[in-house]
Amino acid sequence: MRLVDVKTFTMEEENFTYRCYKALFRNRKLPLAYVDLDLLDKNIDLIKKRSGKTPVRIASKSIRCTHLVKYILDSDPLFQGIMSFSGSEAVYLSKNRFDNILIAYPVVNQQEIGQICGELKKGKYINLMVDLPEHLDLLEDEGRKQGTPIPVSIDIDLSVDFPGLHFGVWRSAVRDMKSLKNLVNRIKQLKYVQLEGLMGYEAQIAGVTDHVPGQAGLNAVKHLLKKISIKKIAAKRKQTVEWIRGQGFNLKFVNGGGTGSVESTIAEPHVTEVTVGSGFYSPHLFDYYHNFSLYPAAGFALAINRIPKDGIFTCSGGGYIASGSVEGIKAPVPWLPTGARLDANEGAGEVQTPVLYKGPESLSIGDPVLFRHSKAGELCERFNSLLLVKNGKVIDEVPTYRGEGKCFL
Ligand SMILES: Cc1ncc(COP(=O)(O)O)c(C=O)c1O
Repeated sequence: MRLVDVKTFTMEEENFTYRCYKALFRNRKLPLAYVDLDLLDKNIDLIKKRSGKTPVRIASKSIRCTHLVKYILDSDPLFQGIMSFSGSEAVYLSKNRFDNILIAYPVVNQQEIGQICGELKKGKYINLMVDLPEHLDLLEDEGRKQGTPIPVSIDIDLSVDFPGLHFGVWRSAVRDMKSLKNLVNRIKQLKYVQLEGLMGYEAQIAGVTDHVPGQAGLNAVKHLLKKISIKKIAAKRKQTVEWIRGQGFNLKFVNGGGTGSVESTIAEPHVTEVTVGSGFYSPHLFDYYHNFSLYPAAGFALAINRIPKDGIFTCSGGGYIASGSVEGIKAPVPWLPTGARLDANEGAGEVQTPVLYKGPESLSIGDPVLFRHSKAGELCERFNSLLLVKNGKVIDEVPTYRGEGKCFL
């Protein structure tokens, strides 16, 4: 039994696919989460095509499963290094034989910095993010204590302000040349902190959908704002990189982007690597971009445990809401059988999720309804393991971070 190519689905094929997954998950305890490796492989290929020759750093926050981070890294030499989301995670990955780790957010806990120094002393490469003098002071102190040079990157803010709109995110305090110069001048005075990288995350390109059905007007506005931003981002990154290099620093890498921005990020000549995470699982938020489409490689199955009325199938669990601003799009969506949808009044519930369905599949107690999460890695915070599906078979079951007893953030 082979699952059909979901990209060219007809209604009959979708229903066939539902039946395939249903057969695969029969006799398994639900809820369960899975990754379809055939679809993950297709996403890997698409991401390789999109990034051309620019190396791709894997955002582990969007995978949260060491087995699959390794699977992606091993799939092609284009995948180089990990973008980690916490100091403890970086240490965990390093101890699990991963290397070339960029921690994308500042670590401000002395104990964690100490543990990172321990890994650096073993010869591992872990680079820490800074954007304030306070970050530098913490690192310099620990570096001195342990006699370890600490490689760092500066995160430059790439948001763009329009009248009445801050288009981007609030993260880095390095927002202009003045703050950049102050930080770099401070680094020059330090002995243990070593500037080796630059990161800029253009969240307003990478993380903002612009192809949402039924929102033609808003899509057009977002598209225009993105177009204007892309030019400004490229100019800012160029100016920053050239100035830092002019100060005598030999930057080992200039990191940018995310799943949604690969094309515009790699078009910048100063960028040496692009980050991708969510694109591998492709949760449903990533269905709404005009510049790419990917395959729904990850999902979860809930068991129908009640049928309160014809056409209403109530499932156990399901309220796995994604982080960020609170909007309907952060809820998971019923995916298969096709046509299944959430009840607007109840949504996806803490222990009970009613699903409305009037299609051709006959659904009974114990049958699964397949869902997709809105975001990628957050799915793994709800499940201890992922079933790996290949060629229409479950070939393995691997632990998530949660299943390994790890909860980093
Ligand atoms: C610093 C940074 N780089 C890249 C990304 C992109 O990750 P993804 O490809 O999962 O959207 C993110 C996401 O939040 C990020 O914070």
